[in-house]
Amino acid sequence: MSNNENHGHEEHVDEVMGMKQGHGKVPRFLIVVYVILAIWAVTYALTAKGIDDRPAGGQTAAQGVSAEVGKGLTSACAACHGADLKGGLGPNLHGVVGKLKEDGVMKILENGKGGMPAMAKNSGWTTDQTKSVIAYLKTLN
Ligand code: HEC
Repeated sequence: MSNNENHGHEEHVDEVMGMKQGHGKVPRFLIVVYVILAIWAVTYALTAKGIDDRPAGGQTAAQGVSAEVGKGLTSACAACHGADLKGGLGPNLHGVVGKLKEDGVMKILENGKGGMPAMAKNSGWTTDQTKSVIAYLKTLN
């Protein structure tokens, strides 16, 4: 009888020790925290990049539409449209505002088209920043 009770106690101790081994619960919790931190870090890095782009576009970014600001922002287009935006993977952008009108270019920048990404949306540009890009493209007419 007393042996059975002892066994019962031993099993209980095992469970307690099992829970102690369940120290793994702390790392598991930390992993969850780490994953949340990692997601936050990635989100923060992407946000920080967006903020970083504004000074690169020019110090007048907050002052509305500016071809000068737009010129800075079109560095993001050069990878596909060529360093001088005269064409590469994407078509020549000289004269494109005359061809598609401001509304047409605005739609392409906001929604993308074929292999053309939705640059304004992807870069988190304000309407003024997108208009600035178009203002710069106009100077290439
Ligand atoms: C990842 C490559 C890529 C990037 C980056 C890119 N484009 Fe494009 N773009 C393309 C491709 C490919 C097309 C052709 C799409 C089609 O007609 O199917 C295109 C088409 C366009 C058109 C329409 C041209 C026409 O004659 O129909 C405009 C305007 C344009 N891009 C502007 C821009 C601007 C401005 C930027 C930078 C803010 C930019 N693109 C960045 C690949 C890119």
